[in-house]
Amino acid sequence: MTGIPAHVVVPCTAASCKKAAICGYGAQIVECDPTDESRAEVAAKTVQETGGVLVHPNQNVAVIAGQGTIGLEVLNQVPGVEALVIPVGGGGMLAGIAVAVKAIKPDVRIYAAEPLNADDCYRSKMNGILTSNPQPPITIADGVKTNIGHNTWPIIRDLVDDVFVVTEEEIKRATRLVWERMKLLIEPTAGLGLAVVLSRRFQETTDVQNICLVLCGGNVDLGTLDWLKD
Ligand SMILES: Cc1ncc(COP(=O)(O)O)c(C=O)c1O
Repeated sequence: MTGIPAHVVVPCTAASCKKAAICGYGAQIVECDPTDESRAEVAAKTVQETGGVLVHPNQNVAVIAGQGTIGLEVLNQVPGVEALVIPVGGGGMLAGIAVAVKAIKPDVRIYAAEPLNADDCYRSKMNGILTSNPQPPITIADGVKTNIGHNTWPIIRDLVDDVFVVTEEEIKRATRLVWERMKLLIEPTAGLGLAVVLSRRFQETTDVQNICLVLCGGNVDLGTLDWLKD
């Protein structure tokens, strides 16, 4: 809107519809390998070459605060909400929502949803110390392959009530259920919340009824549907 050029560092493995949307909004894509290290390296190089300002996708405090408005919307629209289930990658969305919701209604539970294959947030909470994935995770929930970081960890440590992990099968089943029953085109990362709520551990350990699932994204490559290829 202001004519400032934007360069977006994107893993080369990202969904092609996501890349097309970024270009469609007028930004320039700079590809990196699908690891946190490669992303940081390519971003630093891009900043140097362009003289730009780095806006980290999940550790930038303004980005974290901005995502807190999801929490404000939920509290406004659903006054009786008892819990929110939020997918966690770098934790910007989770931390922002946690800060906003706990400041206004501390009794509302904040639960994180994470793939078992990328369970750094779960292990950080268990260990009480920021713990990263030992290697780049392999999961269908590609929006949350990244690790939580130094700005989001203290918020998650102090304000998030629990972290639930789910298997790849559970993620796929929940995503498909949303497609087929709700007719909503969510991506597997967004299926994490439903997968958690349907999981045995969640059902056995929580007593909440009125639950908000954050369906956080819809970048699905539909190119695999034959009839769309023509
Ligand atoms: C679809 C989707 N959901 C959730 C997230 C997780 O956000 P965060 O990294 O702030 O935890 C991302 C991050 O890119 C995403 O693409």
